[in-house]
Amino acid sequence: MTVSTRVTPPDALDPRIKSIGRYVANIQAKMEANRQGAGEGLMLNMQGYVAEATGDNIFIVKDGVLHTPHPACGILKGITRGTVIEIAHDWDIPVVEDWLTLHDVYTADEVFLTGTAAEIIPMIELDHRPIGDGKPGELTEKIIGEFRQRVREDGVRIGVHAR
Ligand SMILES: Cc1ncc(COP(=O)(O)O)c(C=O)c1O
Repeated sequence: MTVSTRVTPPDALDPRIKSIGRYVANIQAKMEANRQGAGEGLMLNMQGYVAEATGDNIFIVKDGVLHTPHPACGILKGITRGTVIEIAHDWDIPVVEDWLTLHDVYTADEVFLTGTAAEIIPMIELDHRPIGDGKPGELTEKIIGEFRQRVREDGVRIGVHAR
């Protein structure tokens, strides 16, 4: 669900800093979502543009184009977000770092969240409105498959799984 707690503005705290202070607002936002029975909360910035979830970045798919909030919206520029952009570039899928409103999210074909903990998770409902046909989207599923492949390959390459 969309929460009332806004992301901390960049002129108050640089969003590139993954600081404990920032998480006070994000934890409050997560509690707000959980109290309403939602697993995750979507946070807007002070101008009302979509920023990010409490611990994840957001992407929408519309007419074959990926849109994700511009870093200037006050988001943490996550490494999983970066990997998804890399995958999209490799597949010649256009990516727009954009100023998105809730209307864009409600009317998207597909929406997914990205983060180190959650990896990539489809968002199938927001504020009691189904996204697309209310099921994980086709492109989302493809990106999840490719992401898992790349993470596993990188893990093997740097010896994470080596015995
Ligand atoms: C507020 C916030 N946005 C986005 C992310 C996703 O970042 P990453 O992909 O680097 O884990 C996180 C992860 O901790 C986060 O806390």
